Amino acid sequence: MGCQSPFDQIVERRHTQCVKWDAAAEVFGSGQEDLLPMWVADMDFLPPEAVVKAVTARAKHGVYGYEIKPASLNAAIIDWLKTRHGWAIDPSWLLYSPGVVSGLATAILALTEPGDSVVIQSPVYPPFFSTASENDRIVVENKLCEANGRYTMDLVDLEEIFRAGAKVLILCSPHNPVGRVWSREELLALGELVVKYGVTVLSDEIWADLTFSSQKHIPLASLSPEIADRVMTFMAPSKTFNLAGLYLSDVIIPNQDMRDKFANQVQRLGNGHSNVFAPIAAETAYREGQAWLDALLTYLEGNLEYVKAELAKITSKIKVVWPEGTFVLWLDCRDLDIPPEELNQFFVQKAGLALNDGVMFGSAGAGYQRMNIGCPRSVLEEAMARLAKALEDYK
Ligand SMILES: Cc1ncc(COP(=O)(O)O)c(C=O)c1O
Repeated sequence: MGCQSPFDQIVERRHTQCVKWDAAAEVFGSGQEDLLPMWVADMDFLPPEAVVKAVTARAKHGVYGYEIKPASLNAAIIDWLKTRHGWAIDPSWLLYSPGVVSGLATAILALTEPGDSVVIQSPVYPPFFSTASENDRIVVENKLCEANGRYTMDLVDLEEIFRAGAKVLILCSPHNPVGRVWSREELLALGELVVKYGVTVLSDEIWADLTFSSQKHIPLASLSPEIADRVMTFMAPSKTFNLAGLYLSDVIIPNQDMRDKFANQVQRLGNGHSNVFAPIAAETAYREGQAWLDALLTYLEGNLEYVKAELAKITSKIKVVWPEGTFVLWLDCRDLDIPPEELNQFFVQKAGLALNDGVMFGSAGAGYQRMNIGCPRSVLEEAMARLAKALEDYK
């Protein structure tokens, strides 16, 4: 049978120095050669063909000196934000950072002092904890509320935290790992608190472009000028077009004082450059990747439906927290009779599946696992077969 979709194509990633495949055996310590890696959040797909062509042409040139970010890249990003997210930004607001995580760390250093509180909404992407704590800031958890497999923000608790003096919140929007695409009402309520208490939001919107059909991502800073004045937004082509290893992200800061502080901190750290390939890849992706992205989203939604249906056949004890976006699934495994501290190794040892352990995302993640579905359907079929067998043997 031929390939149904370009995303069905298996691209061999082993021995390309990629974390997901080449570091799995070491990280999960299983000694298994055939672990299926469903952890690190990049995808096993080729990016848009135009991107590969543009990067290849640049590679063939052969001289890899210092790069600039051309005005045409700024224009491509500004146009993308306008057409894809309905957000018109002033060109002066746009800065760059190698990665989103390095951008968050830069912002924390620029805006806070050691001992200051940084609020995060857990369970959440682990570097939100570490960028704050490793820079001697205090992590304050505003835990998300979960009911019937759906997560919401606890704004009552958040207001108490703000009232007690916290000045920075790292928002994950859309949220990794719980898959929420925050609604306008939720973001407006959050924005109201932020303005009321003079809090700065580092809004990590790296997943902005990866939302499913019924959902629309709303940039927090697009809601009103008052809210925009309190927000630094971090976006990137990295998740969207599978370019994470190139390291280039977009930082949008409407408030001039905050923008100057961020730019000065970049200077202090000396991390203002990317590599020669990233600007070319980003500009090409933003200019020519629209149709590829639409097809990707359809494929990912198919993957999601597939896993949900298969899991329901295999067991009623693993529940998919239905994501509104992202390509990671948050699996509620609390009904399996496996202690949370043994859960990840069950998947690794018994099923040969390398998933992220839920507790990495905070204590509220105990009993959960995160599964990356950014891969060809046939890989998911193999994963489901392995899981079915492991659960059968476990009975
Ligand atoms: C919420 C979030 N922010 C940032 C990143 C990584 O960003 P970068 O690789 O650009 O540092 C990820 C990757 O999974 C993520 O999920």
